[in-house]
Amino acid sequence: MSNLAVLGLQWGDEGKGKIVDLLAERFDVIVRSQGGHNAGHTVKVGERTFVLSLIPSGILRRGKQAVIGNGLVIDPAALLREIETLEGLGVAVHGNLFVSNRAHVIFPYHRAMERVTEATPGKRKIGTTSRGIGPCYEDKMNRRGIRVAELIEPAVFPERFRAVAAEKNAVAKALDIYEPWDVEACLAEYRDYADRLRPFVCDNTAFLNRALKNGKRLLLEGAQATMLDIDFGTYPYLTSSNATAGGLSTGSGVSPRLIDDIVGITKAYATRVGEGPFVTELNGAAGDALRKAGREFGTVTGRPRRCGWFDIPILRYAHAINHLSTLVVTKLDVLDGLETIPVCTGYRYRGEPLDEMPALCEVYGEVEPVYEERPGWRCSTAGVTDFGELPQAAKDYAAFLEDNLELEIGGISTGPERDQTIVRTNSVFEKLVAG
Ligand code: GDP
Ligand code: IMO
Ligand code: MG
Repeated sequence: MSNLAVLGLQWGDEGKGKIVDLLAERFDVIVRSQGGHNAGHTVKVGERTFVLSLIPSGILRRGKQAVIGNGLVIDPAALLREIETLEGLGVAVHGNLFVSNRAHVIFPYHRAMERVTEATPGKRKIGTTSRGIGPCYEDKMNRRGIRVAELIEPAVFPERFRAVAAEKNAVAKALDIYEPWDVEACLAEYRDYADRLRPFVCDNTAFLNRALKNGKRLLLEGAQATMLDIDFGTYPYLTSSNATAGGLSTGSGVSPRLIDDIVGITKAYATRVGEGPFVTELNGAAGDALRKAGREFGTVTGRPRRCGWFDIPILRYAHAINHLSTLVVTKLDVLDGLETIPVCTGYRYRGEPLDEMPALCEVYGEVEPVYEERPGWRCSTAGVTDFGELPQAAKDYAAFLEDNLELEIGGISTGPERDQTIVRTNSVFEKLVAG
């Protein structure tokens, strides 16, 4: 038995999709545990680019099974679109995709509620992906959500849906934000989705435990990342699920005792989409240059990603929360043209060093980075697959991060393609890649 998790350590878009795709060859079942179609995981295979939002990236590998766990919030229309797109590209989804009967369902009133709350004057705007993710999790925690099991049960769904819709309408009217919508038409639409999704639905805990009994290996694919985690991220500027190690377990029904290794993914710099504090953010020309070099535009919403330098305090914090086995640094090639590369080695708040990650976003927003300048390499690392072939300054950059984090960098990604990856000799990552 050897099961693995892959997690993002910053604010998402670290390249989890690429690394999961690389590792998936050695695993049998790839599982998503949290989030929804706010995620966008890009996998480049040769000339083809796939973007996965709800379906685990492992689906792209022939013969692998993919599970959407109980911890997700599912927009059925988005899921059906994704299935259709993948099948159109020749990916076998039917028969290989399994959707939890305990996952929650996103309805139009979730998106409507999000539109209103994001636009409310005086409210802290999060800059969400507008997918209804937060309001759906809100209903889940408030015990009034509708789960997949109810959606696909004709004897249960209509009554449940009408009752919830009536309650939503009453609340909207009381808040004077009611927009007329056709409850019966929506019900008919979701009955159709239910018919199309029914063949995929399973009890994920039973399914995964059977797989484990049969000696199958699981790969848990994180979505979002540590700094977007509902508990540990930059609250309230984050997403509504646990994107850290614990969430993988509660969102899949796989016991923490069965997760043997955790691979953390970080970019060689930092990015963030949406609002919220970002200590090493670069404004102006330097940020634009990094955005251009890294093609940093949101996979889901197309928004320009905010860009900044590598932040060691964040990585230390992420390591403390997730207890990583190894680290993969992606997009090293994006730093190729730089003369020097500042790295944030510490924080200061009102002139004093700060050792812990502030819980208060007002404090975090005032934190100042302490930088150490590292020499750049000013030559191309794109596509390098052998650590020995990196320019000395790039090797030193990796060693500097390793020393500061007290964690091995087992992998370095030098391009979006599967094979544009350095797997370090004798690293934990090498063992995982080799299976
Ligand atoms: P995810 O959400 O963590 O899976 O990451 P995204 O797919 O949203 O964003 C990562 C982007 O960087 C994608 O467009 C990838 O194709 C691309 N990418 C991944 N690794 C590398 C790399 O090492 N170098 C470059 N230049 N691009 C990369
Ligand atoms: P992957 O899995 C980057 C961000 C949004 C917003 C905040 C809340 O591709 O790394 P939400 O719609 O979730 O309520 O938005 O979280 N966000 C992401 N940013 N990558 C993601 O996923 C994200 N998922 C959510 O931009 O700031
Ligand atoms: Mg992404």
